[in-house]
Amino acid sequence: MKNSLSLDRPDDWHVHLRDGPMLKTVLAHTAARFARAIVMPNLVPPVTSAELAGDYRDRILQALPKSSARGAQFEPLMTLFLTDETTPDQITAASATGFVPACKLYPAGATTHSDSGVTAIENIHPALEAMQDQGVVLLLHGEVTDPAVDAFDRETEFIRRVLMPLVEQFPRLRIVLEHITTRDAVEFIRAAPDNVAATITAHHLLLNRNAMFAGGFQPHHYCLPLIKREKHRLAVLDAATSGHPRFFLGTDSAPHTRTAKESSCGCAGIYTAHAGLELYAGAFEQAGALDRLEAFASHFGPDFYGLPRNTDKITLERKPWTVPESIPVNGEELVPLCAGGELAWRLADQ
Ligand code: DOR
Ligand code: ZN
Repeated sequence: MKNSLSLDRPDDWHVHLRDGPMLKTVLAHTAARFARAIVMPNLVPPVTSAELAGDYRDRILQALPKSSARGAQFEPLMTLFLTDETTPDQITAASATGFVPACKLYPAGATTHSDSGVTAIENIHPALEAMQDQGVVLLLHGEVTDPAVDAFDRETEFIRRVLMPLVEQFPRLRIVLEHITTRDAVEFIRAAPDNVAATITAHHLLLNRNAMFAGGFQPHHYCLPLIKREKHRLAVLDAATSGHPRFFLGTDSAPHTRTAKESSCGCAGIYTAHAGLELYAGAFEQAGALDRLEAFASHFGPDFYGLPRNTDKITLERKPWTVPESIPVNGEELVPLCAGGELAWRLADQ
């Protein structure tokens, strides 16, 4: 049995860092583990221009922990929030900054802070043309918002209604279907051309939908896309651990305060950055695939983006630890995944 794991340093290809005091708290967790992270733009108001992305990037760099060596090395990769009004010129301006490798499509109303998202994919065809020409990656929250579609089927319907035609229409556009949750998504990615990939979260590897209802409704297991039934979890786990280069790590760590989660209209999002790599190590170990973790976490993402792999290392040790019940944020609390529970792997002192 392995007691120590040394990997090329990983990157997080999908994370929510928020702003203000929350940013400061969660960024320390992300920067302690990951060299780079694709930062989601669903702030209020959303990050819709190169200028807003630059301002947000500055706030992130300011909020990095000054005391740790990791703080100085972390690189935020910024994204634009696509709207019906996004123009090709805005794409060009964002791409020209050198720090916006991707843009994010939220179908309007699909999830947290997505109200000004895209109402019909045709509305952004000119922006997608520009992205395709300039090598900007399209990130997809892949769920339809049609209220007639069952909440557990929204990813599958998105693939059928939106993604399949999109891949045909934009054959050179690099596309990432984010936080996949279903066997349908796994099968789609496996059959798709090389310009189409997917990210996978730790929580979708570790939980099936029973976790949302165990002993009463569990708001800290509520995220979008919803966690699915066991056969889907197993298919996603199989994809992550298969060594297929178009499945890679994206935590979708999405912090909300305890009061925002434990509410009559609780927010979607699971916080995982406190153990952003350790949770994956647990999932891979359960699947007997620890030797596949490094490629999934550290190689396939930069390869897909056409960025260099990181050259430094990260070490995990098998030293069980108890996850805190909550993490203080500005007089409030953030409840992390596995709060109060034990995790087998921890970060070695850096
Ligand atoms: O669960 C989620 N939380 N899914 C998303 O797509 C958004 C995210 C958030 O921003 O909280
Ligand atoms: Zn997300």
